[in-house]
Parts: sequence; structure tokens; C-alpha cells
Amino acid sequence: TLPSHVRIVEVGARDGLQNERAVTTRDKVTLIESLAGAGIKDIEAGAFVSPKWVPQMADSSNVIRALDLPTTNLMALTPNLKGAEAAHAVGIKEFAIFTAASEAFCQKNINCSIDQSIARFTDVMAFAKSHNIRVRGYVSCVLGCPYEGDIDPQRVLQVCQKLLDLGCYEVSLGDTIGVGTAKKVDELLDVLLAEIDKSLLAVHFHDTYGQALTNIYTALKRGIATVDSAVAGLGGCPYAKGASGNVATEDVVYLLQGLGIEHGIDLERLAKAGWAICTALNKQPVSKVSLALKNQ
Ligand code: HMG
Ligand code: MG
Repeated sequence: TLPSHVRIVEVGARDGLQNERAVTTRDKVTLIESLAGAGIKDIEAGAFVSPKWVPQMADSSNVIRALDLPTTNLMALTPNLKGAEAAHAVGIKEFAIFTAASEAFCQKNINCSIDQSIARFTDVMAFAKSHNIRVRGYVSCVLGCPYEGDIDPQRVLQVCQKLLDLGCYEVSLGDTIGVGTAKKVDELLDVLLAEIDKSLLAVHFHDTYGQALTNIYTALKRGIATVDSAVAGLGGCPYAKGASGNVATEDVVYLLQGLGIEHGIDLERLAKAGWAICTALNKQPVSKVSLALKNQ
């Protein structure tokens, strides 16, 4: 059954901008303020990762320091203790740790095995606990890997359980390269929901093959009520060649509206925020809803 309310986690300023040409710190701040102004409560605002790996996120501290949004939950990626300390120093109240269901992807993305990543996260979790910070977990490649191909849902289950055992309050299921289809989503959720409560899972679909909205609808029908998306469909993944951006938040909001599901977001203001960042990027939004609204 469909949820009555969906929580959108807006990842455009992180997952989106980590794979676009660099924009200024001011552009990022304006984007995040506009997203909050459109009613989004959960915003991934940056990543405390190595600037050698992802130069686009190198100014995350400055972005977050410049924001004054007391009622917005600002989230950030923290792959290790160093990242956690830096995120805490600027007042981040929700961390995200990230690993994968594929060994090869994990190595390329964070330079360690899945087991090593879990061990590394123990420090991050202890630090978070002592500072009253909640932690979200990401699992990449849940529906396929650019290096390993198909991924067994049992492997996804094992990694999800490890993240929940560590103390993550939620695990976000990443279709990093956007290869999933509705049938594969159902098959994955058959395995996961047999062991894990739906309230502990979120979905994070990239739209490379144009399946993201269908996949989201499939997950909603299974009762999943947290959806990650990026305004204007920004981004991709630097370690997954050819992967396109996340599903566009505008398109998800339109879907939810059509289904009569509450979301708390002002679609017009959201679309404006998308156009503004796209102007800075010298591109058009990758959101059919946004383009349609513009042409009305
Ligand atoms: P490493 O090279 O194995 O780590 O990288 P290291 O500990 O040996 O450190 C190497 C250098 O990085 C050192 O600097 C450290 O100080 C520095 P040097 O001595 O060479 O000058 N360093 C850091 N600097 C800033 N912040 C830090 C930090 N940690 C170390 N936190 C590491 C390991 C994890 C750091 C690296 O691999 C990394 O940063 N990876 C991040 C990759 C990334 O951000 N990928 C994109 C996000 S994940 C994603 O998009 C998927 C998702 O959207 C879900 C989905 O779609 O599936 C979440
Ligand atoms: Mg992603």
C-alpha cells in the first residue's frame, strides 16, 4: 500500500553538484536556501570527502558555514573520522556513511573493501553517537554494478544489515548507475522487506535508463516512504562512467501530487531553484516537469 506522506531527501547540492562542472560557493548556498524555501526539510548539503577524489565538494565547510537554516536538516557525507570531525565542526547534525553491495565499486569509490568500509565506519558511528548526530547509510549498486554487472539481492541484504547493526537509523538503496527496472526493484524488496522494516529503508535512483520514476512508484507501493532525488536531475557519479543524475525532485513531487501523497514541497519554487542552478551550470534542467511548467 502507498504511504500517506513521503519524505524527500534532496541530494542535488551533493550528488548532483559532485559530478557537474564547478560552481561557486555562493551558487551552492543560494541553491540550498532556495530548496529550503521551497519547503524541503532534508537537504544533503555537501561531502567531507578527499578533495583529491571529488574536488567539487572541497568547499563543503564554507557552504555549510554560510547557511542559516535552523529548521532544515542539513546532511553531509562522512566517509571516515576525518570527514565526521570536519562536518561536526560546521554544525552538521546528520551524517551519511556510504558503502556498496559490489566489491569492485567499493574499491573504486572509497578505496577499500566492503568489510574494511564497515570497520572504518565504527569510528564515525562512535563519534556521531557521542555528539548526538544521527547517521544514514548508503548502499551503492543495489540493482547492478558498472564493473560486476548483476548484484545478488542477498548481498544487498547483508550490507544493509551491517549498516543497521552499526546504528544507522535508515539505509538508502542506491541504484548508482540507474540500470534497475520495476521487476528488479520488486525482487530486491521481496528479499529486503522479509528481514528489514520498511521504515528503515529509503530509495535512491539515478535515471540513466529513464526508469527512476517507475522504480520509485514500485517502491512506494511496497510502503517505502523516503525518496532521494536531486533538483533538476543534476549530476551523476564520478566513479560510475556514463551514469546520469538522480531522478529529478520536480518529477517526484509531480508523481506524489498525482498520487495524493503529502510531501510539503512547493513545486513552483522548487522548479525556480532548479532553473537558477542550471543557469549557473549553463544547462537546462533534466526534468520534464520543470520544462513543461516553464512552457505553460
Ligand atoms: P584514501 O586515499 O584511501 O584515504 O581515500 P587516506 O586515509 O589514505 O587519505 C588520503 C588523503 O586524503 C590524505 O591526504 C588524507 O588526509 C585525505 P594527503 O595526506 O594525501 O594530502 N583525506 C581526506 N581529506 C578530506 N576529507 C576527508 C579525508 N579523508 C582522507 N574525509 C577516502 C579514502 C574515503 C577519503 C576517499 O576514497 C574519498 O574521499 N572517497 C570519496 C568518494 C566520493 O565522494 N564518491 C562520491 C560519493 S558516493 C556516491 O555518489 C553514491 C551515492 O550517491 C549513492 C548511490 O548513488 O549509489 C551516495
Ligand atoms: Mg547517488
